[in-house]
Amino acid sequence: MFIGRDNELKSLNKIKGRGKAALVVMRGRRRIGKSRLISEFARGFPTYFEFQGLGSRAGMNNQIQLDHFARQLSQRLNIPPLKLSDWREAFSFLARETQTGPVLIMLDEIAWMGNTILTMLVS
Ligand SMILES: Nc1ncnc2c1ncn2[C@@H]1O[C@H](COP(=O)(O)OP(=O)(O)OP(=O)(O)O)[C@@H](O)[C@H]1O
Ligand SMILES: [Mg+2]
Repeated sequence: MFIGRDNELKSLNKIKGRGKAALVVMRGRRRIGKSRLISEFARGFPTYFEFQGLGSRAGMNNQIQLDHFARQLSQRLNIPPLKLSDWREAFSFLARETQTGPVLIMLDEIAWMGNTILTMLVS
């Protein structure tokens, strides 16, 4: 069951309607329904990629996050495990796999990704 969020879905659909790539950052307090809104919106896309972050718990580092991302990517594509050496390589790989749109990519819990990666994404 999915309730409401008409305004949010309308805004997202407006962005989708532009037919151009867009980066949408969603924020809001815990358990407010951010992830659910995206998975609901994703139903209107033929291709959907979802990546979960590992958060920023103790012992976390960039390589662990990258390996986790690589695991999700290879599972999603049904291909043998990937070894990614940096985020640029990760997103180039993803870009190659998502050339035929419309595609929705959800990077859930993006705070873990850190500033370098966010800057790269925006560019
Ligand atoms: N519009 C909605 N209608 C019905 N249930 C909803 C709706 N939005 C969220 N929920 C439910 O509320 C719970 C919390 O939603 P969700 O996990 O999307 O929140 P979140 O903002 O991503 O939380 P977090 O900050 O912990 O990641 C989930 O069980 C989800 O299914
Ligand atoms: Mg969430």
